[in-house]
Amino acid sequence: MAKINVNGQVREFTAEPDTPLLWVLREQLELTGTKYGCGVAQCGACTVHVDGVPTRSCQRPANSVSPREKVVTIEGLSKNGSHPVQKAWVKMDVPQCGYCQSGMIMAAAALLKNRPNPTDADIDAAMTNICRCGTYGRVRAAIKAAAATGSKQAKLDIQHTDGSVA
Ligand code: FES
Ligand code: FES
Repeated sequence: MAKINVNGQVREFTAEPDTPLLWVLREQLELTGTKYGCGVAQCGACTVHVDGVPTRSCQRPANSVSPREKVVTIEGLSKNGSHPVQKAWVKMDVPQCGYCQSGMIMAAAALLKNRPNPTDADIDAAMTNICRCGTYGRVRAAIKAAAATGSKQAKLDIQHTDGSVA
């Protein structure tokens, strides 16, 4: 039995050496907000944070994540959808089918944590997620809307559901 720190809680799991983090999150920890798209690190649907770094969980073996590393999934980004990125997503009505959107939001939250006022080039570099519904324009607009509300860095910090701040 291995241990992993997810959304502020230490959880236990069992996995083969090559079992992706994505499958542990979804199938053992029942955190199904993180999606499977391509399985080859291309689409970004499976994006979570590992110590604040946006990580494609389909390609990260679960056993390679230390219990000292903090994993955050879409379920742990905030309480009640209150992260500025989540609010901006609602305000700008970003999702279509929604399948890619948790990965998009996690990538955007990591971007804004590091660059509270990103340029278009910053957004292009960070947002490599694929959306088959073509929401790219609204994703960009929502990132800028979130940045506009987050003039203080603290507003863009990740409020873990356990009360800690990343
Ligand atoms: S499912 Fe991981 S990048 Fe597509
Ligand atoms: S909203 Fe449908 S895949 Fe992006």
